[in-house]
Amino acid sequence: MLRRSTGGARGALKAAGKLARSFATVEKADCVVIGAGVVGLAVAQRLALCGRDVLVLESAPTFGTGTSSRNSEVIHAGIYYPPDSLKAAFCVRGRELLYEYCSERGIPHWQIGKLIVATGPSEVPKLSSLMDRGARNGVDDLRMMDGPEAMRMEPELQCLKALFSPVSGIVDSHSLMLSLVGEAENHRATFSYNTTVVGGHLEGNSMHLHVCETKNLDENGNGQFPLQPELVLVPKVVVNSAGLSAPLLAKRFHGLNDQVIPPAYFARGHYFTLANTKNPPFRHLIYPIPEDGGLGVHVTLDLNGQVKFGPDVEWIDGVDNVSSFLNRFDYSVSASHAERFYPAIRKYYPNLKDGSLEPGYSGIRPKLSALQQLASDFVVQGEEIHGVPGLVNLFGIESPGLTSSMAIAEHIVAKYLT
Ligand SMILES: Cc1cc2nc3c(=O)[nH]c(=O)nc-3n(C[C@H](O)[C@H](O)[C@H](O)COP(=O)(O)OP(=O)(O)OC[C@H]3O[C@@H](n4cnc5c(N)ncnc54)[C@H](O)[C@@H]3O)c2cc1C
Ligand SMILES: *[C@@H]1O[C@H](CO)[C@@H](O)[C@H](O)[C@H]1NC(C)=O
Ligand SMILES: *[C@@H]1O[C@H](CO)[C@@H](O)[C@H](O)[C@H]1NC(C)=O
Repeated sequence: MLRRSTGGARGALKAAGKLARSFATVEKADCVVIGAGVVGLAVAQRLALCGRDVLVLESAPTFGTGTSSRNSEVIHAGIYYPPDSLKAAFCVRGRELLYEYCSERGIPHWQIGKLIVATGPSEVPKLSSLMDRGARNGVDDLRMMDGPEAMRMEPELQCLKALFSPVSGIVDSHSLMLSLVGEAENHRATFSYNTTVVGGHLEGNSMHLHVCETKNLDENGNGQFPLQPELVLVPKVVVNSAGLSAPLLAKRFHGLNDQVIPPAYFARGHYFTLANTKNPPFRHLIYPIPEDGGLGVHVTLDLNGQVKFGPDVEWIDGVDNVSSFLNRFDYSVSASHAERFYPAIRKYYPNLKDGSLEPGYSGIRPKLSALQQLASDFVVQGEEIHGVPGLVNLFGIESPGLTSSMAIAEHIVAKYLT
């Protein structure tokens, strides 16, 4: 529901709810951001600071309930990604912006550094390629360590060799998002929670968004499509930052060339926490060599000293479009996954005790490529791709999307929205 009014949109939405569903109210708007995850929030904050009139539409009751609160909260250095990729560029730039922002605003974060470890002889050369790649991506200060040196740094660690990344760190993503929301609101942005964009259509050259109150979808959803909008918004700028559902939503923008919308795939990652850790076994982030689809089951610490292991990679089926808008994905963490975690973790942490892992939480990666396909890059589509002025679609914003959020915002606002 709209909390504050922008151009009468609140009244319109209310009225529309009471009227016959077939009579949608039409309202103009300046900038609409779809999705209040960390990326949408960074875009909204930046647009608001530029003096634009911003309306954020979020299907959930509050911000940050999707992938943005279901991740490792690691500030990545930018090592892994192919040179010249958006992931590499946005990660390195985003990391700089994020550290600066967190320092200025007093957002809890900690540059604790990370060790990528080789535990078998075949993995040792992979560390050198990662170091080269990192250097090409502009990640400074990477340092190769022999096993004994790394194990002196981390007495519980077992490894043959390690790559030390001092610029990696952790951030309290909730505090970060809270700060972005506050700043956007201070610059007159409006947040409309419990509000779902169910689709849209192209009229002339502009995207008309079809908007419903989420609770009405709950009641009347029943798989009936197309959904009747209660409100049609006609913004100058639309940023589709709907995360896992961004491609499914774009497919419901009638008139948009759907040839350019990538297919959506989903890979869940589970986390387990370490029980009874008064003394965390590690002081740095510890990462194995990356696996297909993810970075490997690694050690993360959060700012409360909680130790967590994860995420693994489990490819899962998607859900239908409206269920995805309502975040009805399966986030369960079955205790049985722990069986695969113990041997993976013991490769670098041999003292891990039986029974010490407790199910934590899970997150789902918004993938654009399927298992065994080449990993895809972030996809940012503006007018040059789809021909619609003012529309920006963000697809496949998986890791390092948290680290990259402020750089993505900087890029799209500079390129498309000012
Ligand atoms: C397991 C895992 C671990 C990760 N670890 C890290 C890490 O350590 N470091 C890092 O940098 N990155 C990490 N990431 C990536 C990072 O979490 C994401 O890139 C980032 O959170 C994406 O933010 P977003 O705003 O694009 O999406 P989301 O947070 O998913 O936000 C999208 C929002 O859109 C809303 N929405 C959806 N459909 C609609 C609709 N139709 N109408 C209105 N609202 C809608 C949703 O409710 C949601 O709030 C990880 C990701 C995963 C899955
Ligand atoms: C959103 O909906 C929930 C119930 O689904 C309700 O408790 C909450 O007050 C609503 N929030 C807003 C801002 O309307
Ligand atoms: C949305 O999902 C429904 C139910 O799965 C399906 O029938 C419909 O074709 C989908 N619409 C689009 C545009 O993908």
